[in-house]
Amino acid sequence: MTETVRSSALRILVADRIAQEGIDLLRKALPEAHIDIRLGLGPEQLLASIGSYTALIVRSETQVAAPLLAAAKRLKIVGRAGAGVDNIDLDAAQRLGIMVVNSPTGNIIAAAEHTIAMLLALARHIPSANSSMKAGKWEKSRFLGVEVRQKTLGIIGLGKVGKEVARRARGLEMQVIAFDPYVSPEHGSPLGVTMLRLEEVLRRADFVTMHAPLTSGPQGTHRLIGAYELHLLKPGARLINCARGGLIDEEALLSALKEDRLAGVALDVFSQEPVRDDEVLQQLLAHPLVIVTPHLGGSTAEAQVNVAIDVARQVISALRERVSTRAETMTYALTT
Ligand code: MLT
Repeated sequence: MTETVRSSALRILVADRIAQEGIDLLRKALPEAHIDIRLGLGPEQLLASIGSYTALIVRSETQVAAPLLAAAKRLKIVGRAGAGVDNIDLDAAQRLGIMVVNSPTGNIIAAAEHTIAMLLALARHIPSANSSMKAGKWEKSRFLGVEVRQKTLGIIGLGKVGKEVARRARGLEMQVIAFDPYVSPEHGSPLGVTMLRLEEVLRRADFVTMHAPLTSGPQGTHRLIGAYELHLLKPGARLINCARGGLIDEEALLSALKEDRLAGVALDVFSQEPVRDDEVLQQLLAHPLVIVTPHLGGSTAEAQVNVAIDVARQVISALRERVSTRAETMTYALTT
């Protein structure tokens, strides 16, 4: 970032909800800045107003695509309060000299704990048993569960969240195997994790959980789990995705469920968020073996404070001191 930012011209747009602690920090450190908190703006409204802002802060809801960045003539920095930056066009930002920062570690514990909650909820049918009992029923035999102890958990992506999931799964006495092209077997063993090829993990695991970032291109992770991979799963395997919706081919997942090949699926993330009109997602949501939450992985009080403060600090630093932290943060962003 080379251009000097005059403090009198600082305008910050907070387009998705972030914790008050982050806003307070921005106000304290940049008392001269004009901070607008405008949640739920539609793409057209955002496009029409972005031109006057020097900083934009988002979570996963706002799509920061190339046309928005092109219209953002004064924008110096986009802060993503969270780890994944897949809702931001990084190439366009780089071309336009707009810095992108994120919070690579603020919500890893929240995401790992949500994954374990989904694992146990799947194993013990907690959501359906809860609904059944609240509907006045007492269906003890309908909800026969399985123990996770001595079952095999397959982790796809042994980054920051994947490692925390592995630690917790070991605490539950699970066998943990993982696939991650960037992690060597030596790095897996101190965690008690055996590193294997993707196919091998899918063939052996009783539960599979996704923890890879969503990346595009020929080597990207988009639809990493498609029809072929789903066929490799053991009959009766259970699948959890608290990472990114695009990692799994949702149509192929629906077919696997319709063919009775899976015992359960837990989804916190979807290719369309919020889910609106997508027919396949509607069917997945309605399927009795699928449990869902609305992208709550990072949604704990603690994590929201962490990510809001992380991002506020970087925005302050970029706008006041003009110190570029881009190289560091973008490296972090590649492993969730
Ligand atoms: C993240 O990327 O940090 C998580 O998906 C959490 C979120 O965006 O809410």
